[in-house]
Amino acid sequence: MSEARKFADSDTHMRLASIVYEASIRLGAIAPERAAEKSAPDRWSRKEELGHLIDSATVNHQRIVRTILEDQPALTSYDGDRWVALHEYQSSQWTELIKLWLAINEHILCVVDTITTDLWERTCTVGDSAPMTLSALVGSYIDHMLDHLGHIGIETSDLGKGDFEKREWIYPDKPADTDYLINDLIYRRWSPRVFEERSVSPHLVRTLLEAARWAPSCFNEQPWRYLIFDGSDPEARERARACLVEGNAWARKAPVLMLSVAKEMFTHNGKPNRTAQHDVGLASENLVLEAVEYGMVVHQMAGFDLEKARHEFSIPEDHTPVAMIAIGYPYRGSTDDLPEDERKKELAPRSRKPAAEIAFAGRWDEPY
Ligand SMILES: Cc1cc2nc3c(=O)[nH]c(=O)nc-3n(C[C@H](O)[C@H](O)[C@H](O)COP(=O)(O)O)c2cc1C
Repeated sequence: MSEARKFADSDTHMRLASIVYEASIRLGAIAPERAAEKSAPDRWSRKEELGHLIDSATVNHQRIVRTILEDQPALTSYDGDRWVALHEYQSSQWTELIKLWLAINEHILCVVDTITTDLWERTCTVGDSAPMTLSALVGSYIDHMLDHLGHIGIETSDLGKGDFEKREWIYPDKPADTDYLINDLIYRRWSPRVFEERSVSPHLVRTLLEAARWAPSCFNEQPWRYLIFDGSDPEARERARACLVEGNAWARKAPVLMLSVAKEMFTHNGKPNRTAQHDVGLASENLVLEAVEYGMVVHQMAGFDLEKARHEFSIPEDHTPVAMIAIGYPYRGSTDDLPEDERKKELAPRSRKPAAEIAFAGRWDEPY
């Protein structure tokens, strides 16, 4: 952001960002079956209500852009019921609707981020309304959003009150310093050592496992198994925490731990599966990236007592515990509580070997 640009109403950007990112997490905690329920045939389900918010976002994106670019544009209103019926939101996937709603609002946030002091005072009309300022237009967009989020059953009283912005969402923000443009989830993922004191909903835990389930594997063996310690059995979670080595003591504060385990023999012929642990890694990366999609953070660890875990959780001999996985929400406070060594690692820039060291052109050691 250039020094010359001053924002009279940058609070609006912060507030909208805070609402949509937090609300999308709360929406994700609603089970798809509940989202599809209708209290009466002529009432919107939660899916349709969110569909209406998607329509509102697309319409208001246009309104905001036109008010910035045109002189007092006369903007049209729209028929919410007919738009919802036309899009058949009831037959859409709940998580796809959440992602779409978030994406369009991110698009709106990009525009709102460019609004300078004088632009907030520009006016437009909507339908037969009296002229209203851009500030009022965006304000009423947010109020309407909160109203419908409330209908969906989202607690809205604390939404938009935090000093919350996506750029600070993953704290400290450590995106990959890439040579080429890559997928956003891979770009943003990293392994932090501090977690917000906040539980992860069972629905989200199951969503992460669903992502893991759809990983590819040799002979479709699906050799991955996961032991889940989500706090529903506090004693089991304590026993999992006690398996961590001292250097990973920070992970004891994660609300969810999982232990990935590899089934070492093929089911179809009883022979060793050479890629079992590789395939477990594929499933776990699916899980990790799905978590990033939902604003969570994950840190995988080899540093745990494997035999203790085997004994504590009755893991059979032909299965190998692979990694302990700490899952939670990114912490937005200080890292002062970490031991000095861990704190340094937490704040250090992320690094990778150069591509020439890991990719060879046709023969060994010939950099690609
Ligand atoms: C299988 C596996 C085991 C790991 N074990 C540990 C561990 O015991 N303790 C730890 O602090 N980090 C552990 N890590 C995290 C790595 O140190 C981390 O992924 C790596 O430094 C790259 O950093 P980034 O994930 O932030 O990009 C592990 C990662 C993987 C995939």
